[in-house]
This record gives sequence, structure tokens and C-alpha cells, in this order.
Amino acid sequence: MRAVRYHEGGDPDVLDLEDIERPDPGRGDVLVEIEAASVNPVDAKFRAAGLPRLPKTTGSDLAGTVVAVGEGVDDYAEGDRVFATGLHTGRFAGGSFAEYAAVPTDLLAHLPEGVSFEHGAAVALVGVTAWRALVHHAGLEPGGTALVHGGNGGVGHVAVGLADALGATPVATARPQYHDALGDLGAGTVLDYGRDDLADAARDATGGADAVLDHMPDTYLGTDVAAAGFGGDIVAIAGDTATFPDVAAARSAELDVHMMSMSNLATHSDAPDIGPILDRIGNLLAEGRLDVTIDRTYGLDEAAEAHRAVLEESFLGKLVVEP
Ligand SMILES: NC(=O)c1ccc[n+]([C@@H]2O[C@H](COP(=O)([O-])OP(=O)(O)OC[C@H]3O[C@@H](n4cnc5c(N)ncnc54)[C@H](OP(=O)(O)O)[C@@H]3O)[C@@H](O)[C@H]2O)c1
Repeated sequence: MRAVRYHEGGDPDVLDLEDIERPDPGRGDVLVEIEAASVNPVDAKFRAAGLPRLPKTTGSDLAGTVVAVGEGVDDYAEGDRVFATGLHTGRFAGGSFAEYAAVPTDLLAHLPEGVSFEHGAAVALVGVTAWRALVHHAGLEPGGTALVHGGNGGVGHVAVGLADALGATPVATARPQYHDALGDLGAGTVLDYGRDDLADAARDATGGADAVLDHMPDTYLGTDVAAAGFGGDIVAIAGDTATFPDVAAARSAELDVHMMSMSNLATHSDAPDIGPILDRIGNLLAEGRLDVTIDRTYGLDEAAEAHRAVLEESFLGKLVVEP
């Protein structure tokens, strides 16, 4: 089968489209014929660093059709449509920019009829991330408000839609060119992240946010503390060097600060399973209560360009790869 692999860390041109042996499904796995995968920043970051172990097939999520089942699998059968994520790390770490993958069943769910493979792949990693941040960590409830930084991003635009689907009011930040589209996805207000008074504007727009989803805490943790309401939850999904800006303000507001990585769902046995979260997201898509936007699609032979674009270009939604 064809697969996009790297044998060392480095620039996107270390990616090679290779012919490798098709995997067999092990115990507890299903073999999926991949129809679509999506492009995530973690794919490019892992490639640059030569992680997690080499050679590595890139790609963190997929959608496709089950073509064989391993021993001990009774909830999936040949012909089932499925989608999955957590494929970049942990005990699977096999990658999805390929024609087939043997996927452990706890990383996947049935893809509802009416949801395309492209949309299933596009939503998988970012949808689980947004769910884990807003539902598991922040406990966002109907009537609440959520500040979502980078609202046009893969995570951001699904978080906006998810907050809206939960009955909360999302307030997003984004460049002006995306404001109308984010309003269509459910954002009550969209703020240009370049404005000088962002923290005040975010606090005004949210009335003191119940939840803040921050993908750049090194830059925005101070904004988050200022914008969060009493008892608010700040969820950071990235960052390296953030220092806590104002402990007194956070203490006065009794804020909770959460640090998370969806990768932990694939690596920690104490973390929740991915499959049930995908089930909920798949149902929201099928019911038309959540949207995922696909900006453009690449072939496997364009994987290097896709890796470059996901880190360097501005777009709304997701980049998808079709084998
Ligand atoms: N911990 C986890 O579980 C987890 C899961 C998924 C992703 N992540 C991380 O979260 C980050 C976002 O992932 P993604 O998939 O959403 O990436 P993405 O699709 O590339 O989106 C990146 C977003 O960041 C925005 N951005 C860039 N510069 C900004 C700035 N100065 N201020 C505010 N926003 C800015 C972009 O806006 P423009 O279009 O204007 O540049 C875009 O909206 C990445 O670092 C990724 O590795 C973490």
C-alpha cells in the first residue's frame, strides 16, 4: 500500500510517498481502508522533531471503511463506516496518510450515514480536542459563554460550533476576513485578535467568560484571566513558556486553569476513551447541529505541501488528504 512516511526529523521534504506492506489487524484492531485523513499541526511538529518513533507514517485522524477485523472485535464488521483519531502517538502511532491502517477499536467510532468521510476525518482530532476542553475540562453548560481564541482554526471553528450546539454563547477571536463566516457557525461576537483592548473587549462580549479555550497561552494567558468571569475555567491546549500573569486576579475570581493534550487520550490508561467522544460528535454532525469546514483537499503525493500549509497559511477550518 502507499503511505507517507519520514525516516528522520526535518523539513516537509523528509516526507516520502512509499510502498509498504499493508498491516494486518491485530487483536482488538480493525483494518480500515482510508478514504480521508486530515492535516493537523501536530503532524508537522512531530515530523520536524522526528517523533514519536521512526520510520513514522504521518497523520493523526482518518475516516474510511472496515475491510477486516482482528480477534476479539465484535462491535465492528466488514463494510462499517468509521472515523478515528489519536493515531499519531501512543500504542498505535501508525499514521493515517496511507491507504490502510489497523486501528485499535477504542480510538474509533461508527461514522453516521450522511456524514462524509472527508467531514469525519476533518472533525476527528479537533472535535475530540474541543469536546475535551469545553465539556470535560470547562464543564460548559447551556446559557454559558465561551471565549475561543483563533476561531477560524481547526480546533477554533469546531469549538465555536460545539459551544453553540451546547446552548452556550461562543465569542471568538479571528482576523476580520473570518468574522462573517464565524457568525454563521454560531459565534455571538467575533473580535480581531490584533486589537489593543482585546482583554476588555472579550470581557465585555462574554460578560465574564465561563470557559476560555486558549491555543496560545504564551501570548494570551493574561487576556484569559482578565476575560474570565467568577469561577471561570481557562483551558490551554498548547504553549511552552507561559508564565502565570496575575495570581491575585485569578484567585479573586476563583479561576480554574486546565492544561490538556488530546494525545493523552491515546497514551494514558486513566484518560477517557476516544470512541465515545467521537460518537457524540458524529451524532451532532449527523443532526446538523455541528459543522466542520473543509478549506481544501490534497492527494498523498502533496503531503509535504499540506504539512507546510497547516503551519504557515491562514484558512478557515481544515485541510484534508485523500489517498
Ligand atoms: N493540546 C491538544 O489537545 C491540541 C489539540 C489540537 C491542537 N492543538 C494545538 O493547538 C493549536 C491550534 O491547532 P489547530 O488545529 O486549530 O491549528 P490551525 O488550524 O492551524 O489554527 C491555528 C489558529 O491560530 C490562529 N492564530 C495564529 N496567530 C495568532 C495570534 N497571534 N493570535 C490568535 N490566533 C492566532 C490562526 O489564525 P490565522 O488564520 O489568523 O493565522 C488560526 O485560527 C496548535 O498549536 C496545535 O498544535 C493542541
